[in-house]
Amino acid sequence: MDIFIGDERACDERGAQEFAKQISSKPASVLGLATGSTPEGIYERLVDKYKAGQVSFASVKTFNLDEYLGIPINHVSSYSYYMYDKLFNHVDIQKDNINLLCPCPNSIDKECMDFEAAIKACGGIDLQILGLGPNGHIGFNEPGTPFESTTHLVELTESTIQANSRFFESPDQMPRQAITMGIKTIMQAQRIILMAKGQKKAQIIKEALTGPVTTRVPASVLQLHPNVLVILDRQAAAML
Ligand code: GLP
Repeated sequence: MDIFIGDERACDERGAQEFAKQISSKPASVLGLATGSTPEGIYERLVDKYKAGQVSFASVKTFNLDEYLGIPINHVSSYSYYMYDKLFNHVDIQKDNINLLCPCPNSIDKECMDFEAAIKACGGIDLQILGLGPNGHIGFNEPGTPFESTTHLVELTESTIQANSRFFESPDQMPRQAITMGIKTIMQAQRIILMAKGQKKAQIIKEALTGPVTTRVPASVLQLHPNVLVILDRQAAAML
């Protein structure tokens, strides 16, 4: 496991460089993308690199980690909206190559199975970016999720509802359920970047990287992956 520690600007640049490098070595790369505040700077820089002619998404395929359930697809707090707003609307990605979980599927089981099948049909994910929930979740794999899990329905924990309700007009509008790639799905990516910023992530980063590998801290499973880069700002790295 490689660890990069720097200020926020250096972290965002390192993350963006990793994606640019991946795409230039394989233009038809399959990227696993995350939402939340942590990767926003990476997406901003990727848009800049695209505008500067340094990277093209023309053949890239993407799969997003997770999505809330029970909101319209164009809801401003949906992860679908986030991805178009922060990245897809500003680069040359083809719409057919974007894979987002639907927040209002007809059948949740089918949505999960189709998503897994689509990842397999593309040959798997080359590079996956992950943020980290304050309780150690990756995607929406909450503590206790089996490491063997594939894409599935999640009942969000109280701590996640509290942490994420700031993105909704009021806490009672925050969905209680989500769909997420499973831990097994994530672990099958060729390369994974885990990124965390801020002092509020310091304790969970310490547990995830140096504590026991346990389903109680979902991100601790990354200790078992052979190709992980951890990108931390100094505050998130403070307890290492
Ligand atoms: C959400 C997402 C996670 C993300 C986490 C951290 O819960 N489902 O994939 O990693 O938020 O968010 P932030 O980056 O805003 O701290």
